[in-house]
Amino acid sequence: MRFWKGFALVGVILILLEESFSGSIPTTLDGPFEPVTSPLDQIKFRGFAVDLPESDQRVMRQAKGFEPEQISVSLSATEDSVWISWITGESQIGEDIEPLDPASVASIVYFGRKKTGLNRKAVGYSLVYSQLFPFEGFKNYTSGIIHHVRLTGLKPGTRYFYRCGDPSAGSMSNLHSFKTMPASGPHNYPSRIAIVGDLGLTYNSTSTVAHMQSNNPDLLLLIGDVTYSDLYLTNGTGSDCYHCSFNDTPIHESYQPRWDYWGRFMEPLLSETPIMVVEGNHELEEQGHHKTFEAYKSRFAFPSVESGSNSEFYYSFNAGGIHFIMLGPYISFKRSGEQYKWLEGDLANVDRSVTPWLIATWHAPWYSTYRAHYREAECMRLEMEELLYTYGVDIVFNGHVHAYERSNRVYNYTLDECGPVHITVGDGGNRENLAISHADDPGNCPDPASTRDPHLSDNVCATNFTVGPAAGKFCWDRQPEYSAYREGSFGHGILEVLNETYALWTWHRNQDLYNTAGDVIYIVRETEKCLFRTKSQDDTIDC
Ligand SMILES: *[C@@H]1O[C@H](CO)[C@@H](O)[C@H](O)[C@H]1NC(C)=O
Ligand SMILES: *[C@@H]1O[C@H](CO)[C@@H](O)[C@H](O)[C@H]1NC(C)=O
Ligand SMILES: *[C@@H]1O[C@H](CO)[C@@H](O)[C@H](O)[C@H]1NC(C)=O
Ligand SMILES: *[C@@H]1O[C@H](CO)[C@@H](O)[C@H](O)[C@H]1NC(C)=O
Ligand SMILES: *[C@@H]1O[C@H](CO)[C@@H](O)[C@H](O)[C@H]1NC(C)=O
Ligand SMILES: *[C@@H]1O[C@H](CO)[C@@H](O)[C@H](O)[C@H]1NC(C)=O
Ligand SMILES: [Fe+2]
Repeated sequence: MRFWKGFALVGVILILLEESFSGSIPTTLDGPFEPVTSPLDQIKFRGFAVDLPESDQRVMRQAKGFEPEQISVSLSATEDSVWISWITGESQIGEDIEPLDPASVASIVYFGRKKTGLNRKAVGYSLVYSQLFPFEGFKNYTSGIIHHVRLTGLKPGTRYFYRCGDPSAGSMSNLHSFKTMPASGPHNYPSRIAIVGDLGLTYNSTSTVAHMQSNNPDLLLLIGDVTYSDLYLTNGTGSDCYHCSFNDTPIHESYQPRWDYWGRFMEPLLSETPIMVVEGNHELEEQGHHKTFEAYKSRFAFPSVESGSNSEFYYSFNAGGIHFIMLGPYISFKRSGEQYKWLEGDLANVDRSVTPWLIATWHAPWYSTYRAHYREAECMRLEMEELLYTYGVDIVFNGHVHAYERSNRVYNYTLDECGPVHITVGDGGNRENLAISHADDPGNCPDPASTRDPHLSDNVCATNFTVGPAAGKFCWDRQPEYSAYREGSFGHGILEVLNETYALWTWHRNQDLYNTAGDVIYIVRETEKCLFRTKSQDDTIDC
């Protein structure tokens, strides 16, 4: 009886939702839209975002001996291949620790299309990394053995079952399964792609992940700032604001066991749903000998070789008829640099008749209107925006700013019907909590010199606007026209590409019921109006 009552209630809500959206979902063709700021519920949302403690069952090590744990799937560059990653053995933290020998445990995946017939085998490689601090009183860390195995020769849009581990050590994982992406082509798309940034590992992050799971994604994109292990000292003491709390440490410390906690918490989702990660500033994690990004580079598999970048910091891949480009703001983005050259080549190779959609992501946004990180990535924008525009990038996803924001189509700070829609989803729920003030709020405009992030650039690139309604000023005096919708709430987004021209974007708040959307829009490609350099077009010119 109770069950049916609940069921009926959900039914009514769904019908109400359908009614409120059906026929009335706006499209980008109706834009540019008047800027909207959703008011903040001050009382409800000013609580702290609290990290899961090490005593939480979901982050504790359950594996015995060399049993696989922290299992995850990620995509290769094309639909016929995926990576399976996992960890064996115990990490260590303290004094005089000795790294495990990665060669002591094999990296093997048995897989197949039937649960009972894992008739194929793939062998990969393993590694360990260490986080070493040559300072008195600091603890060093060395990881468990991290395994990465690439499965090849897979059929598109197909479910595969697998076990990973080392059979000779008698320690294979439980049975898991994943589904490959559909074959690239203008009519084939994954059903739903979940997109989030700045996730962290708080109770709010767990709410984000639960909402995401209820939307049943085929793929998860994590746009940087993963675990926030760098809000902790090596002795395990953490803070909501590192630079306000620990002002006398000789180096920015981090507590690597939290990466293991995150891997364990995420395993139920990531062992079945592929994840693609790109780096954020919280992955930098400087250690002794000027090493950086060691956890990020070691723990995830990237299609770096497969996409020709040979770098963990930038790469590309296809998901059906979408070509995704993942970029790195924290390494050189200069026109003379490796990343830019690779990007030029990658863009020139995209065949829009095979992958009509072109989506770019990186951590630090170009078009955020929040005070936090306002125009921080301006040097990157000045180098790369023209190239992305020329090749007709449809959508840009970013994180970094802990809020949600969707732009009107924009290029070079000017409304432009052929410019990409920029969407910031740095609202994953991490411990640093929400960004709430806007650069256009009275008295909130930052000093241009203060907007430089030394990890992003040596120069200050953001200067006062020279044209438009904010000419002569660094900030607008109202929500800028390029900002269509902004709201400070935790949540995640879902992209459903329907065909060559229509994609449905929905953004979901954590405080709402599952499957309820807070912002909904069809992003429509205007292929005839916006003629850009594409491979098929070049080909036409050639013949
Ligand atoms: C974060 O989660 C706590 C409960 O754990 C909740 O009270 C708070 O409102 C959440 N914060 C936001 C911004 O949603
Ligand atoms: C950590 O490793 C560094 C080497 O980079 C060494 O100098 C330091 O003494 C080690 N610290 C501890 C506590 O073992
Ligand atoms: C860790 O170090 C900090 C700073 O020295 C200190 O305040 C804190 O009490 C230490 N925590 C533990 C658990 O030792
Ligand atoms: C961008 O706009 C500025 C004026 O605000 C102009 O000086 C610059 O040349 C434009 N850049 C491009 C690539 O169009
Ligand atoms: C830039 O704009 C700010 C206001 O946003 C103003 O105070 C400042 O004087 C301007 N600087 C220049 C060089 O015009
Ligand atoms: C794409 O999907 C939209 C929304 O369902 C529909 O209106 C449009 O006609 C479709 N376009 C093509 C080319 O199939
Ligand atoms: Fe960030």
